[in-house]
Amino acid sequence: MELKINHAHVISPEAVYAAAQQLTPYINALQLATAAASYDSPESSAYLPFDDELLARVTATAERMVTPALQHIFVVGIGGSNLGTQAIYQALVAHRPNHPQMHFLDTVSTTKLLESVALIQTLKSPEDFLIISISKSGSTTETIANTEILLAQVRDTFSTIEERVVVISDTESHFAVGARERGIEVLHLPSPIGGRYSVLTAVGLFPLLAAGFDITALRRGAADILPYCFNSDMHHNPAAQSAGVQALALAQGIHIHDTFVFEPELEALGKWYRQLLGESIGKKHDATGAEVRVGLTPTVSVGSTDLHSVGQLYLGGPRDKVTTFVYTTDRAGSPVVPANRTFPEAVPMVTGQSLAAIKHAIIGGTLAAYNNEELSFMLIEIPEISEYELGAFVQYKMIEMMFLGKLLNVNPFDQPNVESYKSVTKDLLMGQG
Ligand code: PA5
Repeated sequence: MELKINHAHVISPEAVYAAAQQLTPYINALQLATAAASYDSPESSAYLPFDDELLARVTATAERMVTPALQHIFVVGIGGSNLGTQAIYQALVAHRPNHPQMHFLDTVSTTKLLESVALIQTLKSPEDFLIISISKSGSTTETIANTEILLAQVRDTFSTIEERVVVISDTESHFAVGARERGIEVLHLPSPIGGRYSVLTAVGLFPLLAAGFDITALRRGAADILPYCFNSDMHHNPAAQSAGVQALALAQGIHIHDTFVFEPELEALGKWYRQLLGESIGKKHDATGAEVRVGLTPTVSVGSTDLHSVGQLYLGGPRDKVTTFVYTTDRAGSPVVPANRTFPEAVPMVTGQSLAAIKHAIIGGTLAAYNNEELSFMLIEIPEISEYELGAFVQYKMIEMMFLGKLLNVNPFDQPNVESYKSVTKDLLMGQG
């Protein structure tokens, strides 16, 4: 993975390195938190890729629950409890057609829930499926309601349904305690690690391992990028640089961050990052308690499709966005427009070109257009879409977010306003009950 920053407009390299330099004491603290090999603070998520005990627990649970017959995995969870898994699954699934299929139940949707019930009812054996229900707090309305209904509706078909369930939650949540009392498999979470920093805990590792993905490579990618993210030479520290760009952009009134992926299968990864940036940085109060109402609005665009829908706005509309283009440089196996064409007069220059080469020409055209309009952007080049590269990407972005929180003086680990909607929902349900 390589980060490139286009410094031609608005944000100078000197300003970025100066902003990044302010992070030095925090980088030292993060290194200490990682070396402590324990979970004492939210920053300890950086230690996750080195936690071999965690890997052993996840692997042992998979050995008990994953059968050769497994075809369908239902992941029940929302926000930080499923976005990371969805991101990695969607990025890789097209290249792994023989893996079990994953189904994600997040919001309360009658249609989606009944589809899952109907699918389970067509299966012959309980070994054909697995239900993984994830809630760190164990008290998220959507996840608990979806889990309860799913289990109740398939119990007639599979009376021992609890044997095909794994719960992932904080050790002492009502959810985890109830699961243990009923003999359901439970995987626990390190309590200081919040949902949107949890993709490298059991939250992401267990479903991905159950679905046949290489979580060792995912963890290795995350571990290998850390020395770069902790580099005290800011010219070679991608996380400090991209955090610096965003903090400086915000100071100049640029308040939208568009993650522009040029591979459709990376859209869910963009949405994982949307939550990370939105929830971590969108804050009413700063770390001192002063009201600041700060935030960068994260958007996700998919190239080249969205150039044909919102490209005009991005290029001709307000200069209120900093963009991160994400694409792979991998050209292997890309099909070629044949010499013997059906419509040789239409776009003749595509003859003999692979789709990957055409994509790179479109990226080149897009970057030139952004440059002409003096728009700020960064590029993230990924050599190939693999567990290793995705592990590096998520780790880099989580560290970037901690740095951005520090530069903007907000707590990147809490979400007090999300909690307020959750608690009023419960009050309303009590009133209806
Ligand atoms: O990042 C977060 O903390 C949130 O998005 C949570 O992950 C989300 O609200 C789900 O919470 P829980 O895992 O407690 O069900």
